[in-house]
Amino acid sequence: MNQTEEGSSCRNAPSYLFGIQKRFNWEHTYVNSCKHWVRNMKRVLITGGAGFLGSHLCDRLIKDGHDVLCVDNFFTGSKTNIAHLIGHPYFELMRHDVTFPLYVEVDWIFNLACPASPIHYQRDPVQTTKTSVHGAINMLGLAKRVKARIFQASTSEVYGDPEMHPQQET
Ligand SMILES: NC(=O)c1ccc[n+]([C@@H]2O[C@H](COP(=O)([O-])OP(=O)(O)OC[C@H]3O[C@@H](n4cnc5c(N)ncnc54)[C@H](O)[C@@H]3O)[C@@H](O)[C@H]2O)c1
Repeated sequence: MNQTEEGSSCRNAPSYLFGIQKRFNWEHTYVNSCKHWVRNMKRVLITGGAGFLGSHLCDRLIKDGHDVLCVDNFFTGSKTNIAHLIGHPYFELMRHDVTFPLYVEVDWIFNLACPASPIHYQRDPVQTTKTSVHGAINMLGLAKRVKARIFQASTSEVYGDPEMHPQQET
């Protein structure tokens, strides 16, 4: 749906929106207000979308009525985390490694692609570094090109070995 042509697309929208709402049991109120929904719907790229945080974020953004592109190389993530979203009209899954450039048109980017657990990120330190550095550069480049808003995940590991638990970040 063209997000700028609200007038023409909105006239037909409510019937299928209510169909989608019924099929996926959506609760969000946007469905009841087509114009509001179209204006607020974002095309969202979630890298690492099949991981722990990413899969929950996919759920949340789909529930809020956004169009989600989940990108993952399945290094630590799993299709089972997002299996329930496959077939949803506003969910797309792409196998891709963020160390390689990606050209997609999106409004928001959440760059969560990086193994979080020490046993995983220490297994191949070179790949972990490439994912963190090249992945961030690729996503920042994409954000700049398409003028998308970007969220970059980090980790408290950057502070070194914790001296207290839970670790303070202030
Ligand atoms: N889980 C936490 O409590 C927590 C806390 C603070 C920060 N973070 C950060 O959030 C991010 C995600 O954490 P998580 O717990 O969801 O980790 P996770 O390991 O469950 O998810 C990471 C996802 O990224 C994917 N991935 C890894 N390398 C990739 C690559 N090169 N290309 C594409 N996909 C790739 C994995 O397959 C996986 O699906 C990490 O950067 C982590 O450091 C996590």
